[in-house]
Amino acid sequence: RRKPVTPPDIAGRKGGEPIVCLTAYTTPVARMVDDHCDVVLVGDSVGMVLHGLPSTLGVTLDMMIMHAQAVRRGVRHALVVVDMPFGSYEESPAQAFRNAARIMAETDCAAVKIEGGVAMAETIRFLVARGVPVMAHVGLTPQAVNAFGGYVVQGRGEDAGRVLADAQAVSDAGAFAVVLEKITAPLADRITCDVAIPTIGIGASPACDGQILVVDDVLGLFQDFRPRFVKRYAELGADADTAIAAYAADVRARRFPAAEHLFDAPSPTGEPA
Ligand code: KIV
Ligand code: NA
Repeated sequence: RRKPVTPPDIAGRKGGEPIVCLTAYTTPVARMVDDHCDVVLVGDSVGMVLHGLPSTLGVTLDMMIMHAQAVRRGVRHALVVVDMPFGSYEESPAQAFRNAARIMAETDCAAVKIEGGVAMAETIRFLVARGVPVMAHVGLTPQAVNAFGGYVVQGRGEDAGRVLADAQAVSDAGAFAVVLEKITAPLADRITCDVAIPTIGIGASPACDGQILVVDDVLGLFQDFRPRFVKRYAELGADADTAIAAYAADVRARRFPAAEHLFDAPSPTGEPA
């Protein structure tokens, strides 16, 4: 099989073939994603997508570790990156290292992702110097939703300079790639040209060095809301609804279970099954 993807492999793809990334939170989905993608992100979006939380703020380190272990078991080729949840890294570089080390030791994943630009540059430098590969995340950083006052497009007008400085800072600090979330397309193009590391877009630009989406959005499984930047490639949520309704109707009509699902029941012809 193809050899495992490493953080330096991803860093080396600046300006090259697009880096294909998706999230995963479970072993079976991770297996499918691994067959087609370069990076599998265990995103803290798991809180909203699988746990019904109103934002990513309630996600804990223990939740991330449990999902990362499940994903890791399903992946043989792709680079597995684990989101550090809100409150697990912002306090100090030492706190960030302690929790990143726990993630890497307990999950066997090779990299972490943290949100923040200029404010997190010192922490990124600290982690990278101690053997923790870091993917950065700037623009709309969902853990700061309360500070932004909503999931608002970032980098419009005067604000572009701030997002550009954030991307430059994480690149200078040694991040191996940076996610650009929900920023204007011209700004994403500019950042992709200006910074040395690959940019991974989500609501950014096709010119980014790679793209990422939430797998449940791609599959049409997460239906609470649908950001403009999501493209649905399947409607598994609607399919699941149809399947569950059919099962319920079968049970109510005693159509299920049928003969082929039974043990030692007399067959309709009187012969044993
Ligand atoms: O948590 C997540 O899923 C993410 C990506 C969508 C970038 O951070
Ligand atoms: Na995230």
